[in-house]
Amino acid sequence: MNEIVDVAGAVRTFQRGAEEVRALDGVDLAVEQGDFLAVVGPSGSGKTTLLNLIGCVDRPTSGTVTVHGMQTEDLTDRALATIRSTTMGFVFQHFLLMPTLTAKENVMVPGRFYAKRDRDRDLEARAKKLLDTVGLAARADHLPRELSGGEMQRVALARALINEPEILLADEPTGNLDTVSADEIARIFRELNDAGLTIVVVTHNLELAASATRGIKLRDGKITEQEELRPVPARPAAPLQVERASEPEAAAAPEVEAQPEPEAPAVPEYMPQTITRRKWGSPAVSGGLGLLGVVMCATAFMPFLSERSGFGLMSDGFFTVTLRKGNELTRVFFGSPASVFTGIWPFVLGLLLIAAGALYLFRRRRTSGWISILTGALGAVLAVTNLLMVYARLGADASRGYAGMSPGYGLWVMLGVSIASLAAGVVILAARGPRPAGADEQA
Ligand SMILES: Nc1ncnc2c1ncn2[C@@H]1O[C@H](COP(=O)(O)OP(=O)(O)O)[C@@H](O)[C@H]1O
Ligand SMILES: [Mg+2]
Repeated sequence: MNEIVDVAGAVRTFQRGAEEVRALDGVDLAVEQGDFLAVVGPSGSGKTTLLNLIGCVDRPTSGTVTVHGMQTEDLTDRALATIRSTTMGFVFQHFLLMPTLTAKENVMVPGRFYAKRDRDRDLEARAKKLLDTVGLAARADHLPRELSGGEMQRVALARALINEPEILLADEPTGNLDTVSADEIARIFRELNDAGLTIVVVTHNLELAASATRGIKLRDGKITEQEELRPVPARPAAPLQVERASEPEAAAAPEVEAQPEPEAPAVPEYMPQTITRRKWGSPAVSGGLGLLGVVMCATAFMPFLSERSGFGLMSDGFFTVTLRKGNELTRVFFGSPASVFTGIWPFVLGLLLIAAGALYLFRRRRTSGWISILTGALGAVLAVTNLLMVYARLGADASRGYAGMSPGYGLWVMLGVSIASLAAGVVILAARGPRPAGADEQA
């Protein structure tokens, strides 16, 4: 079978004052593709706690929760957030709609946080389509207060599906509904499961529990009963009949019985497959940017590397540079070429590049890319301006140089570093593919 989430020996305790509450006490549960699990049990038996573990909202105190073979305790909070937004859809007892947003806008909300950019394009169209799926096409532009409880819950259900989750997690979704609305929700859940959606629902509603493929009873944090209610539906080719922006031809109606047990790809392509492998941004890229920063700082001293030359910083309140040949003062710079020589700009730019490298290490790729580009552009403009000024001032002396070195030497290196950092920034931004996983591989 194709397992999505595996909970093994999970214990979750909470500290309440001096008392330790054992909300879950050694639970083993596998959620497989196509399952529709109904979790029942008295209040306080650990149902919500279990749902939170499956949904990667929480981690077990001991035992393991594995999503597509990745243990949640090995994952960063950020990785868990990615799993939640790509793999899980959540429905709550109290709907939790934004009161100031229309039904359609509420459905679109989780799509805004989704890393996968190619799905962002027609977010609104998909929201409308999902509202249609839950029978609310006509209510798209209504505010929650204009909707009944059942309608609000159907909006919340559409919202849970906007990122095409693999598992729908619902915590007492009919708890606040009248029986007619509750039956409607049960019917939609069943349809979604028939269409291939995996569902885990905590419920007291008999109709809803009876729609499930498997019933699980919890008591005092333990599974006390499990019952197969009906077979898991065969998995259709397109799990959800929601139009996809990227693959419009993939929505063909499935021929259910012709479907062999699919050797499905173990991990869907958009899952954070590489997240466990790398919690940090590439050290090579970070190191490269840092090195550029160091060289940039060093350009401040490059015109003066010869032991017979000297330089001075901030003399008499001005940025002044003196060049000496032996003990003989040959030239004094002040004003704008001197301010470059004295290293104000190379240091500012160099530190920016080092910061960009550090940010990259913390996976702030975009920020680090933009800093590199801006630093490179500014550095190139400064280097060129100052090269022109220096050579204009020195005239014929420029080719001879001072103390065996051309005064433009540092500026030429600065120009090179600037161009390199500009290019690095462009590459960093361009390498940031639509999937975080893909970008990681390229980085
Ligand atoms: N964050 C928490 N802090 C302290 N105790 C908690 C917390 N969450 C749940 N519990 C306790 O854990 C037990 C199980 O809670 P829960 O999973 O919410 O039960 P259910 O959803 O079945 O009603 C309860 O005794 C509850 O009081
Ligand atoms: Mg609960």
